[in-house]
Amino acid sequence: MDTELPSMSSEELALFNELISNHFGIHFPEHKRKILETRLRPRLRANHVRRFIDYYLLLQFDLELELGPLTQAITNNESYFFRETLQFDALDMKCLDDLQKGGEPGRLRFLSAGCSSGEEPYSLNICLRGPLQGMSRDLMIDAFDIDQNHLAKARRAIYQPNSLRALSPSQKRMYFTALEDGSFELRSRFRHNVDFHHGNLLDAETLSGRVYDVVFCRNVLIYFTDEATRKTIDNFVHKVRPGGLLFLGHSESIIGLHSKFQAERVGQCIAYRRVDP
Ligand SMILES: C[S@@+](CC[C@H](N)C(=O)[O-])C[C@H]1O[C@@H](n2cnc3c(N)ncnc32)[C@H](O)[C@@H]1O
Repeated sequence: MDTELPSMSSEELALFNELISNHFGIHFPEHKRKILETRLRPRLRANHVRRFIDYYLLLQFDLELELGPLTQAITNNESYFFRETLQFDALDMKCLDDLQKGGEPGRLRFLSAGCSSGEEPYSLNICLRGPLQGMSRDLMIDAFDIDQNHLAKARRAIYQPNSLRALSPSQKRMYFTALEDGSFELRSRFRHNVDFHHGNLLDAETLSGRVYDVVFCRNVLIYFTDEATRKTIDNFVHKVRPGGLLFLGHSESIIGLHSKFQAERVGQCIAYRRVDP
């Protein structure tokens, strides 16, 4: 029996990168070839093919059928509650008050784009309750991701301790119910207002027609090609209302990339104001 693990040639890597970046925006540079190999090998086994080129040809033939498992294999879904806390701190009463001036009266709309299993939109929901109290504003949070598996986890709102690693013991008690198996269930009052959807950042039709005061899209573009990043930001021009804010991850920047987003200090971090020159 042939037990040797298949390896991916440079040509195969280039073919996969073309397919993956067209569909998901994600790119695996040469130094991540081994990571891609490891992630795709179970898919070769599941489809009873021995070489990466065979799996590639199978995807060419019927991508739809393999789309779910392929998405799970290639996306990095790492997330946790209150990741990059300074951005949540920046959403204080003054910031929300300023946002309210240009938006829909009595309502604030947030979007978490690339929300993984929900830690980010639920963190927003938790942190905005304080400043919004007494402001008589409705809060609506939409969240979307390309990975259906993680969206299902988001809707269940049950988390392993790792997702709560940035929380103090008292925050854990306040926001979660500890379950017997060691996991934590988000209390129901923190689940209201958050709606999860399936969508792709590259697809202008995802949540089309909806416009937000604030969009969070963090730790997603870091894996994208330049072209996919540009396409995503073009789509955000229609999703963030003029005067609204776009927050990216701390290692992501679109400074100078689009004339309709201008970098600005908000609290102790940088966000991008949607301008309408
Ligand atoms: C590293 S997680 C970041 C989660 C969260 N934003 C955070 O910062 O904690 C990246 C998420 O982006 C999603 N993603 C990757 N490509 C996407 C695309 N083209 N459209 C929508 N979501 C995508 C992945 O499925 C994954 O859940």
